[in-house]
Amino acid sequence: MENKKLTTASGRPYVDHEDSLTAGARGPVLLEDYILHEKLAHFNRERIPERIVHAKGSGAYGTFTVTNDITKYTKAKLFAEVGKQTDVFVRFSTVGGEKGSADSERDPRGFAVKFYTEDGNWDLVGNNTPVFFIKDAKKFPDFIHTQKRHPATNLKSPTMVWDFWSLNPESLHQVLILMSDRGTPFGFRHMNGYGSHTFSMINSDNERVYVKFHFKTAQGIKNLTGPEADQMRATDMDYAQRDLYQNISEGNFPKWNLKIQVMTEQQANEAVVNPFDVTKVWPHADYPLIDVGVMELNRMPRNYFQDVEQAAFAPTHIVDGIGFSPDKMLQGRILSYPDAQRYRLGTNYEQIPVNRCPFMTNNYQRDGYMRVDGNGEDAPNYFPNSFDDIVVDQSYAEPAQRIYGEVADRFDRNAEGENDHFSQPGNLYRIMTDQEKQNTINNIVASMSGVEGPKRNEIIGRQLCHWFRADVELGTRIAQGLNFDISKHMNS
Ligand code: NDP
Ligand code: HEM
Repeated sequence: MENKKLTTASGRPYVDHEDSLTAGARGPVLLEDYILHEKLAHFNRERIPERIVHAKGSGAYGTFTVTNDITKYTKAKLFAEVGKQTDVFVRFSTVGGEKGSADSERDPRGFAVKFYTEDGNWDLVGNNTPVFFIKDAKKFPDFIHTQKRHPATNLKSPTMVWDFWSLNPESLHQVLILMSDRGTPFGFRHMNGYGSHTFSMINSDNERVYVKFHFKTAQGIKNLTGPEADQMRATDMDYAQRDLYQNISEGNFPKWNLKIQVMTEQQANEAVVNPFDVTKVWPHADYPLIDVGVMELNRMPRNYFQDVEQAAFAPTHIVDGIGFSPDKMLQGRILSYPDAQRYRLGTNYEQIPVNRCPFMTNNYQRDGYMRVDGNGEDAPNYFPNSFDDIVVDQSYAEPAQRIYGEVADRFDRNAEGENDHFSQPGNLYRIMTDQEKQNTINNIVASMSGVEGPKRNEIIGRQLCHWFRADVELGTRIAQGLNFDISKHMNS
């Protein structure tokens, strides 16, 4: 086999890869050493902005296979028949830490799946938890600021975290899950994934139902306890990436079973608890899980930056047969992700191989930085026109979604169905085993013990009230763990 020649980026073979061009043996470097310029200049531009959240992550390719017929709910082509396979790319992540942070941090885990369907890419950009901390996108930047570093100390701050959570009791459900051992999963293979939001499914008769998506791990749930997670942080910061890479490389392919819960439009209209509130689950007893298919991850990217760092997932990417819902958080995310990716990767980020639809894209978008797909070549760049054969296919029109009400920026937060932030966390606590309860309480006490400063008692007292409202035993045990006399502090 003929060796490949070393070349510049523009293709010129060259020899001086390690020695700069100098004037004489000990002389200064010449301005004309363009190879030196090219190396140093390209190196200076290697880093792109990390994701504003979910910066640390791991990715893998795989396939999704339909195992059960759900065509009565959706006409989405990827679910068209049992046995049908669709390629996927998945990225798992932690949320609050920087790109170099530890995989064992107590944090939700991102669980983002890109299905490469013949009707375009469908992204299900979820977490390993079925709920979220807030239910309105307007709160997201404030919330995330509390998860990042303090503006003065540049340290993570339990005071900011618990101040925000205690002032936003809607977070209680997600906080309880986060504080259980599911907040520190053993790598990425042993956790579930959830679409979390409510989405629509639309069938071939254009009938709409609402759905929730659940990926159940076939490897079984396995978590680290708080102390084990601390130990892991000290010994192997990248264990989740290592675990995924090793298992897939050795042919031990992880799998998840995809299931859905279904709610009719009528059930949604009659539901007491807002079915579009991402801080709530739909009880399994009322909305049982329905099998859909199996996702297997079986190929690691050959280059991490190329595929994982440049991957762009967006809840915006839906396909025919799958639609949005009125969930306020989902609506905010529809705007936020492509906006973030235009900033992080550039306006033509959809052309990067991991993001490109492998089937067809036909539109009139042209030009911009890093346009590398032929840019429409000599075809018309406007619509309508008399020259090309691109048609608008009306069969893809989505049926109308009924909405009602008045325009207002602040609906009554205390309205029925909106203000019960406590029943579901209480239910979760009560289904935990004794050991899970104990570990969760230990984790909460350890975390709340970090609250400091003049507002300490106020913040702890306020948060304890939320724990008590979820479950009296839970509140009592946390108060005892903190050695905090709530009656004394709440009266002062
Ligand atoms: P079920 O008893 O039918 O379901 C309980 C669910 O809780 C199971 O899916 C189980 O997941 C999950 N679970 C167990 N321990 C934890 C934990 N530490 N953190 C997160 N999830 C956990 O009851 P309901 O459907 O009535 O729900 C009761 C509570 O369970 C809810 O308030 C919610 O907090 C939690 N839950 C509910 C889900 C839903 O979609 N209904 C989904 C996930 C959690 P697994 O089977 O994987 O062990
Ligand atoms: C990543 C915004 C809520 C899951 C991101 C990114 C932004 C963002 C800007 C970075 C995107 C990029 O640079 O590629 C928001 C906003 C939210 C919100 C504004 C609330 C309104 C949620 C929720 C979930 C979630 C509720 C899960 C249920 C994820 C995941 C990623 C991510 C998994 C990483 C995707 C990847 O692996 O590249 N989010 N987010 N986010 N978000 Fe959110």
